Amino acid sequence: MKHVVVLNPKGGCGKTTIATHLAVYASTLGLRVALADHDEQASSHDWLKSRPRRCAEIAAIAAYDGAAIEGDFEVVIHDMPATAIFDHASIAEASSKIIIPIMPSPIDLKAAMRLWMKLSNSGWLDDPNIEIGVVANRIKNNSKYVQTLNAFIEKIGLPHITTLRDTQNYIRSLDAGLTLFDMPPNRVADDLIQWQPLMEWTGFFDIEDDELLELFGAQGDVQPGADQMVSYEDMQAEQLAEEGLGFEQY
Ligand SMILES: Nc1ncnc2c1ncn2[C@@H]1O[C@H](COP(=O)(O)OP(=O)(O)O)[C@@H](O)[C@H]1O
Ligand SMILES: [Mg+2]
Repeated sequence: MKHVVVLNPKGGCGKTTIATHLAVYASTLGLRVALADHDEQASSHDWLKSRPRRCAEIAAIAAYDGAAIEGDFEVVIHDMPATAIFDHASIAEASSKIIIPIMPSPIDLKAAMRLWMKLSNSGWLDDPNIEIGVVANRIKNNSKYVQTLNAFIEKIGLPHITTLRDTQNYIRSLDAGLTLFDMPPNRVADDLIQWQPLMEWTGFFDIEDDELLELFGAQGDVQPGADQMVSYEDMQAEQLAEEGLGFEQY
């Protein structure tokens, strides 16, 4: 049984979005897949319930309710909550892959730094059975925070698996119980290109780039642009001013 854990205690960074997409990807490949929702908000289970019947089956494991991670599955995708993570020791078993989505904002970067320190202290970063990678999520072409996020990922030394742009495609498709993989490929071609490194990274299916392209029908070349580098302090001040937030203590 392969485990993929989508993890980051920061809410709203894209865990459920990535977990649901990976579950659909695995089921599209014909794998027996379960989506284990560890979050009491049960967002991925709600999404699963709203999924049209014609879609390939994805089993639900209500891990937030104490359901055991068991069954005849080839792949289990774990959608983690925005809370403490280390109660879930059982997910850190052999052959686990961990995906950390991070958004380009000062608050998200700070949270990611704390997570990285926890992972480091827990020994997970040194465990040869656990592979950890980062996905930069909700990247806007004109965002000046993008290069700062990229530099951060490089600095912590985890693989930067891919970058997903900010697009309503995710919001619209999830709302209908779907993912981008269920949409007409020509409408989401730019996004599918960005998913390919992540699909390959899962190791669910050992195929070449162009075969993946054929399976999911993507063509094109979209690279989210990045503007000038800004200092971390500038980013923080700017975001706090924009969002009218109080200063968060760490
Ligand atoms: N790349 C993206 N572009 C646009 N919206 C996104 C993207 N990724 C996530 N979202 C939206 O952001 C919100 C939070 O994402 P979600 O996956 O629920 O985060 P989490 O599970 O980490 O709390 C959702 O409304 C989701 O549709
Ligand atoms: Mg979620």
